[in-house]
Amino acid sequence: MHNIIIFGAPGSGKGTYSAALVERFGYSHISTGDVLRAEIQAGSQLGRIAAGYIEQGMLIPDDLMIDILASVYDSMRGGKGVIFDGFPRTIVQAGALKRILAERGEKVSVALNLIVSEDVLMQRLLGRALSEGRTDDNEETIRKRFTVYDTQTRPLVEWFRNEGVLAEFTFRGDKDRMIDEIIERVENL
Ligand code: AP5
Ligand code: MG
Repeated sequence: MHNIIIFGAPGSGKGTYSAALVERFGYSHISTGDVLRAEIQAGSQLGRIAAGYIEQGMLIPDDLMIDILASVYDSMRGGKGVIFDGFPRTIVQAGALKRILAERGEKVSVALNLIVSEDVLMQRLLGRALSEGRTDDNEETIRKRFTVYDTQTRPLVEWFRNEGVLAEFTFRGDKDRMIDEIIERVENL
């Protein structure tokens, strides 16, 4: 089973390229952001906790996120593979994922790092704000999310490099080309 991590700054296309990989390869898709937004929509206790963090552009606590991830992962095992979109986001989460996978005889197949300039990211997210209305898609919160990404998530680049699974993709203005490059990398797993 393939265990594919897709990571990058807010708006880098994690959800967009995950959808392309699901369509092409039939993987299951875990977006921790989508999981949390569904909990908020459902009005659950977890949703109430998560809403405050998301609106502030902050990460929800690692222990909470790790428990959710493990249970969603277990519900998806047995298929062709799983795409992790938005997890891990901290070094603690990366260590937890390694353990969760190892306990199940699995490991990370590849970690796809999406590199996009901050100007483009801001344009995309302000564009999406008009259509989707996410509570964290306003300029102030987007800037906070960029800072959180830089301090808490970017160190994962080195982590995955050390694990020998890092694959980097730089957006140069052509979305279809980037999709093709990512698909080619995953095809070779
Ligand atoms: P999450 O939902 O993961 O948000 P994010 O990381 O900020 O990323 P986005 O979903 O905004 O962007 P994306 O990279 O998926 O890009 P997309 O494909 O949509 O997390 C939200 C919050 O939940 C976090 O802030 C945190 O509070 C909490 N959370 C989630 N996971 C957590 C964890 N593990 N630990 C703790 N807390 C966690 O693309 C963006 C837009 O650009 C789209 O509208 C798309 O159509 C458009 N677009 C235009 N051109 C392109 C192009 N060429 N390529 C891709 N997209 C394009
Ligand atoms: Mg997303």
